[in-house]
Amino acid sequence: MSYSITWHGHATLSLNVDGTKIVVDPFFSGNPVAVTKAAEVSPEYILLTHGHDDHIGDTLSIAQRCNSLVISNFEICSWIAGQGHEKVHAQHIGGGYQHPFGRVKLTIAFHGSGLPDGSYGGMPAGFLLEAGGKRVYIAGDTALYSDMRLIGQGGLDMAVIPIGDNFTMGPDDALQAVQFLNPAVVVPYHYSTWPPITQDVMAWADRVRAETATQVVVLGVDESYML
Ligand code: NI
Ligand code: MN
Repeated sequence: MSYSITWHGHATLSLNVDGTKIVVDPFFSGNPVAVTKAAEVSPEYILLTHGHDDHIGDTLSIAQRCNSLVISNFEICSWIAGQGHEKVHAQHIGGGYQHPFGRVKLTIAFHGSGLPDGSYGGMPAGFLLEAGGKRVYIAGDTALYSDMRLIGQGGLDMAVIPIGDNFTMGPDDALQAVQFLNPAVVVPYHYSTWPPITQDVMAWADRVRAETATQVVVLGVDESYML
């Protein structure tokens, strides 16, 4: 069993679950902090939390080059198919599905989801992944919500949560989210990409360490963590 998570800056993640490559929200081109190029990743699966262009990113070019299966909500999958990439698997909020690498459940997220061309992108989501013997929650862009307690009740090996403020939870609410989720490990993301979401991540990590039992893993760009 092997399970690694790599942060590419902003909200872009690569997971490798027992050799299966998954990219979440592949925003490489135009991402001011990304080092990896879209052409350098080759995922079997692309997971999209919502329709905003800092999350859809390079989905079409990567999916077409790699023949990736795109997993997202129904509206986004329909839009991706309409752009010419028909290898999609549509789910929706609260629904889980057993994919070959593991179970993917779409969780609620309080945010928007308009697509880059103005199309309706449905409701934004997070992901609860049960794969490789681990239970991992990727929050997506969201406000704090109290149902995070319910996600935490099942036990979490890792939670990846936004801390950037302005568009999503900021540091105070993200600290509360850690208390609701009670994961073994928390990874902050969606911060310090642009001035409005610049945060002192080390100060936040210190607060989490002082006030919770959760281990904080602050990843540098393209740095990986093995679960
Ligand atoms: Ni967004
Ligand atoms: Mn975003």
